[in-house]
Order: sequence, then C-alpha cells, then structure tokens
Amino acid sequence: MASIFDPIKIGNVEIKNRIMMAATMSNFANLDGSVSDQLVAYLKNIAAGEVGVIVTGHAFIDDIASKGYKHMLGCHRSGLGLDKLAKAVKEYDCTCIVQLNHIGPKADPAFTKGPPRGPIDTVSHFRKKPVDVQMLTVEEIKELVKAYGAAAARVEAAGFDGVEIHSAHNYLLSSFISPVYNTRDDEYGGDLEGRLRFTLEVLESVKQNVSEDFITGVRWNGRELIPGGLSLEEGVKIGQIFEKAGMDYLNVSQTSTVRKASIPTTFDDAGEFTYIPAKVKEKVSLPVVGVGGLHTPELIKKALDDNRMDIVAICRGLIADPHLVKKIKENRAAEQQLCIRCDLCLERTWAGLGLMCSVNSMMGKEASRDLSPLPESKRKKIIVVGGGVAGMEAAIKATRKGHEVTLYEMRGRLGGQVLAASVIKDLDTFKALVNSYEARLKSLDVSIKLNHKITAEEINQLQPDSVIIATGAEEKIADIPGASQSHVTTGTAVLSGKIDVTGEVAVIGATMIGCQVALHLARNGCRVKLIGKTPESDFGSGLMMDNVQITLIDRMAENGVKLYPETELTEIKENAIVVKISEGGQEVFETDTVVFTEEFVPVITITPDMMNENINTFQVGDCTKPKNIFSAIQQGANAAFELSKD
Ligand SMILES: Cc1cc2nc3c(=O)[nH]c(=O)nc-3n(C[C@H](O)[C@H](O)[C@H](O)COP(=O)(O)O)c2cc1C
Ligand code: SF4
Repeated sequence: MASIFDPIKIGNVEIKNRIMMAATMSNFANLDGSVSDQLVAYLKNIAAGEVGVIVTGHAFIDDIASKGYKHMLGCHRSGLGLDKLAKAVKEYDCTCIVQLNHIGPKADPAFTKGPPRGPIDTVSHFRKKPVDVQMLTVEEIKELVKAYGAAAARVEAAGFDGVEIHSAHNYLLSSFISPVYNTRDDEYGGDLEGRLRFTLEVLESVKQNVSEDFITGVRWNGRELIPGGLSLEEGVKIGQIFEKAGMDYLNVSQTSTVRKASIPTTFDDAGEFTYIPAKVKEKVSLPVVGVGGLHTPELIKKALDDNRMDIVAICRGLIADPHLVKKIKENRAAEQQLCIRCDLCLERTWAGLGLMCSVNSMMGKEASRDLSPLPESKRKKIIVVGGGVAGMEAAIKATRKGHEVTLYEMRGRLGGQVLAASVIKDLDTFKALVNSYEARLKSLDVSIKLNHKITAEEINQLQPDSVIIATGAEEKIADIPGASQSHVTTGTAVLSGKIDVTGEVAVIGATMIGCQVALHLARNGCRVKLIGKTPESDFGSGLMMDNVQITLIDRMAENGVKLYPETELTEIKENAIVVKISEGGQEVFETDTVVFTEEFVPVITITPDMMNENINTFQVGDCTKPKNIFSAIQQGANAAFELSKD
C-alpha cells in the first residue's frame, strides 16, 4: 500500500511522489504550435506545486490533420521552443512527459489540411457542427506511424523525460481501437488485434526513436461508456497488450458520450471510475495511473490505500489549485482551492480559448500577473465591503500584494450566495471553497469584521486609500398577484433552512439555481414542479457548462422533478398557482409553497459617489450584475491587481 509521498519508478526514472498532472490542454501555445511564455509560466507554476510528474496537454505530431485546436502545442517540427518548457519544469525536480496526439475525427477542419481523418469515412458529431471525416489509407497510416516516432525523438532532444501516446477519448488512435468507431474491414479493423494494430505500430515506432531511459507511456480508455463500446474486459486486455509492447507505465482513462460524463461533474460521484484502473492493476505489473475527480487528500489517499492505482492523475484539481501537493505536504490542505467540477475550463479549451478556472483567478495569467508583495512605499489601506467570494478573493489578492486589508461582512459568516448554495448535496465543493477562503484569509492574517454592516460614513472616517464594494445580490420575488403571501419565498431562504418546505412545491425560474433548488427539494421528499419561461433545452443553462447542465437535468428526472418549460406564473392563490402555457392555455396547480429563483438583483448599500473624493472605489461581483462564481472571483482579483498599479 503506497502513500502519496512514496517515490515510484517509471522505467528507469524515479518519480518523487504519486501525483501526476494528467494531460491538460491549455490552449496557451502560439498559433504555430510553438511554446509561449504563458505556457512556460503555467507549467512552471504547476511544477512549483510539487507534483511528481507533469504530462503536458496533447501535442500534435504532423502538419496535416493532427492539430485540433487553435493554440494546441506542436511537436511536428523542431524549433518550437520545447526545450524552454522542459528546462523550466525540470528546475523543480519534476518529471515531465509530453503527450503526443492526433486529433482524428474530433478535428476542426479549420486546422487540418484537407478533411479531418479517421478510421472510416463518416460524419463526426464531436464539434458543434457535423464534420465530414475521411478514412485514412494504409499508406497514410504508415506515414503517421513514422510521424509519431519523429515527434517522440524531438521531445527527447528537447530535454523532456518521456512521451505519453494518447489513445483515449475518441481521438485518432482511440477511434481505431473502438469497436463503435472503427468498422474497417482491412488489417487495421475487425477484431481487437486489428483495431489495436495502428496504436501498437505507433508505440513500436516511438520506442525505436528514443533512448532506453526515455519514458514511454500510453493512455487509453479502460472502458467506453457508450452502447457497443469497449468493455472493461477488453480495456484490461489492452493494458496487458501494452505492457507486453514495452511501455513503462499504463494510464487508464475512460470515455463516454456527454450524457454520462467520463469527467465527473459536480452532479456525479467524485472518484467513481477508480474500479477501472483497479481491474487493470490486477493483471499487470507496470505502474498504473488512474483518473477522475480524485481531487481531495482523502480521495487520493483512498485510491492509493485501496490499491486501485499506483499513481493518481489529477487534471482539474490542479487547475483549481496548482499547489495542492505542496499544501498537503505542508499540512495546509485546509487552504486547498477545491475544484467545483463546473467544467468551465473544459468548455473554454474546447472553444479554443485559453485555460481559465472558476475558482483560480491566476489560471491563464501566470505570465502577466505577479503575486509578490509591493515595496513598503506602495502599500495601501484597503477596505473590502462584503464577504462573498468576490470580496474574499479581493481581500486575499490585495493582502498578498502587501496591502493592509479589512474585510467587512454584515452576516455572521463569510461565503454569501456560495455558502447558501453549499447545503445542496451536489455542491459540497462550495462548502469546501468557502472553508478554503476562510483558511487562506486566516493564514494571511486578514482583519475580518463579521456582523458589521459598514456605512459610507464609517468608511470615510476610516480614510482608506481604496474601497472594494462586493455586496453581492439577492433573489427577488416577482411582482405578481398573490406574491406577498407567507407561503411565497426565495431559493436562498429555503436553502438557508429559514423555511421548512414540504408537500407540493412550485419552483419558479429554471436557471441553474432554480434547477438545483428543485433537485434539493425533491431529494428532501417534496413533489416539485419547475416552472420556466424558456424551452426545456435551456433549463439549467446560463451559469454552467453543457455537460454539467445535461447531468443536472438527468438528476432532476431521476428524482421526479416535473418540468414545465415555456410556462409563465400569472397568479399565486392560497393553495395553488395559475400558469400560462406557451400555446396560450392556462393551468392551475395545487401548491403548498412557491419558491422564486428566477431573478437576482444587486444589493446596493454603498455606492462610489458616497465615498470621499480621494478614495479609489471599485465595485465587483454580483453587485455590479449578478452572474456566476467565475466572474465574481475574477472581478475580485482584478480589483486587487488594479489598485496595486499606482
Ligand atoms: C481543460 C481540460 C483539458 C484536458 N486536456 C486533455 C489532454 O490534452 N489530453 C488528455 O488525455 N486528457 C485531457 N483532459 C482530460 C484530463 O486529463 C482528465 O482525464 C479528466 O479531466 C478527469 O480528471 P479530473 O477529474 O482530475 O479533471 C483534459 C481535461 C480538461 C478539464
Ligand atoms: S473551471 Fe471549474 S471544473 Fe475547471 S478546474 Fe476550475 S473549478 Fe474545476
């Protein structure tokens, strides 16, 4: 049984601990695939956080059809600055492996010469619009086999420790392995042996082009969670075949359609896929890597204690907190910025945008923002009004820049709307986020005044250099007949436990918040109707990402929430509501409680014009315009950096 800080050998290289940064495409490379300063700064920061191994995001291997994203890293020729990246990471005693990939049928034709390529002629639906895919000829396969080998040689020459061949997640090699996507009838299709032939030739070519001490690993789907997809048995067998092919480590992932996320969202169980590497581990002796939601010290420990894997790969957990391993090592795990599994990072990179994160405001800005404290002469006195995530983020970043910060919160606890939402079962990560903010504020010794609704007069008397107003937003009960009755309330009031809700409940507003409140109440035994003005396809949208939204809709269905799209509330009676449905008809539903979640309005207690002229004032977060956690945290951080400029 291994523990997180036990070293482990991969091939002939000793890795200092059991944490791998799973391959994470950042979209930080230059347009030509070369290494940018931001890519270097980002991976350097991950290495500084003390992970044992970094696997870079997938890198394309030729200049024909292997590139899939605008700012994807390239290994298709020399002179791309790969050596700068290797040098930066290796300064931190961190093993660094480049993931080689051909994007195959998931390509955007904008980046390929000719159509995207795949095992068969088909139309692929991985992009927003359908894409025509052209079947690779045997000659083209042979060329690609050589291209992988040449790319691996360039990676070794640049000073990296190894390469990982990406044959997971429906990209080219993965789609050759899959019985669903590969229906060829030549030697590269058919049974498992045929479908694996291309990948095995690639692995052989790579091994022939690198030295013995250079790590070669492979990532594949231990299981395809799609009808007719690879079974777990086949996935395990593939692992055994890769071991025989001379790999140094086996990285087991999984894939699916979006409806059943292979990357666990906040509505899935974190760590639910550890049974897959565990099965592989039973049959091989190489180091086995597993992945999927293993973001907390407890889940990491359990995966290792239960011998489910030898190395724990983490992607989003390290995007959210690149210094997670260092914090665990220094007994500061309470300060972990836990990933809330919202998948904003994924949506951004799929859309060709640079990696950013809902909870880590520094992500994507490593090269342009400096967190080191300002000289004494530039330090300021700052007041932050409001202890939601925007205010807490502003307070932390301003304190780190060396300013003297006091944070005022009118309630008895920090956290605002995020704390309120954290009672929802699926949003336990929100609770962790608030706890983490509190722990970080404490460790920075920020002065916090709870139960203190500070006024403009007080602020003017205290004479700060800057004020950051982060007073948040609150839910509004719509102005319709019957809305002032005692059984009419808001989602926040329900979640905070101020009101005991039972029986027939109508939740008004089908935004992500409305859906979550509806799910929460249904799980608590209420019979819930969710009334939304939008079409059903827009239920749960607006704040979270496609696959998170889809999973949320699935969970509501499982818990019996009845959806009423394109429906408008017109009147609230004592025991019923009256709604107008899109076709112009009217219906009356028996209702014990009506819960409004539709509209948030800014809480305005202090405005910039109330401040003395010499006070520099910023407004951040929902008090400017109610949006989401990402924008609140970004705005909080932005204000702290902005006021540090002069
Ligand atoms: C933004 C983002 C980029 C990713 N890029 C890659 C990639 O380049 N190659 C790869 O094999 N997997 C990639 N993945 C999948 C992750 O490596 C990992 O398998 C998945 O996110 C589940 O792990 P997690 O729960 O720790 O995030 C990416 C995931 C995310 C969220
Ligand atoms: S954007 Fe969301 S899912 Fe991605 S790392 Fe950050 S918190 Fe996690």
